[in-house]
Amino acid sequence: MNKQTKILGISGSLRRESYNSAALRAAAGLAPEGAIVETFELDDIPAFNQDEESNPPAKVTELKRRVREADAILFVTPEYNYSVPGVLKNAIDWASRPYGDSAWNGKPAAIMGASVGALGTARAQYHLRQMFVFLNVFAVNQPEVMISNAAQRFDAEGNLTDETTKDYIRQLLRSLVDLTQRMRPDAK
Ligand SMILES: Cc1cc2nc3c(=O)[nH]c(=O)nc-3n(C[C@H](O)[C@H](O)[C@H](O)COP(=O)(O)O)c2cc1C
Repeated sequence: MNKQTKILGISGSLRRESYNSAALRAAAGLAPEGAIVETFELDDIPAFNQDEESNPPAKVTELKRRVREADAILFVTPEYNYSVPGVLKNAIDWASRPYGDSAWNGKPAAIMGASVGALGTARAQYHLRQMFVFLNVFAVNQPEVMISNAAQRFDAEGNLTDETTKDYIRQLLRSLVDLTQRMRPDAK
């Protein structure tokens, strides 16, 4: 029996008018048939403290549950100082612990990101890919969705208006669903 592919989308920005959160909202409307994009908000997650990793805050327990329930993850990352924002890294760290109990292990994932600069989060995305090696997350390689000059691609209400970017997001989600189905036949 065919099953819907459940993709959990995580934006690495807490900003109210975030382009990355707006891109994630757009992705929810661009998912291929048979796939659904849900979101998890990273607000209210305290700074990681290894003393608490075996008894984490409720929000972290919820994050780990949502990650495990999802067939695949869509990371939508800003670029801060040429890397992944601390908010996203912090959430990744929490959900990777304690050792041997990482929620990320074996997950298929896709990456996209929006920046007001010309490189569209390229450097942050490659740092995220580096983390995936240790996390044993399997990321879609292409397309690389790096949304540069974001202020020109969204309207004042935060709607993605750039058709080329929408096409790239559609392709990315299609590739993510294909990868998920290849890795988990029951996710078809
Ligand atoms: C602390 C900080 C560091 C930043 N560093 C970069 C950077 O390295 N590269 C870049 O393209 N934009 C950088 N920016 C600008 C972001 O692209 C811009 O703030 C963007 O809107 C953040 O994503 P958001 O709209 O989803 O919050 C930085 C912004 C902040 C606040």
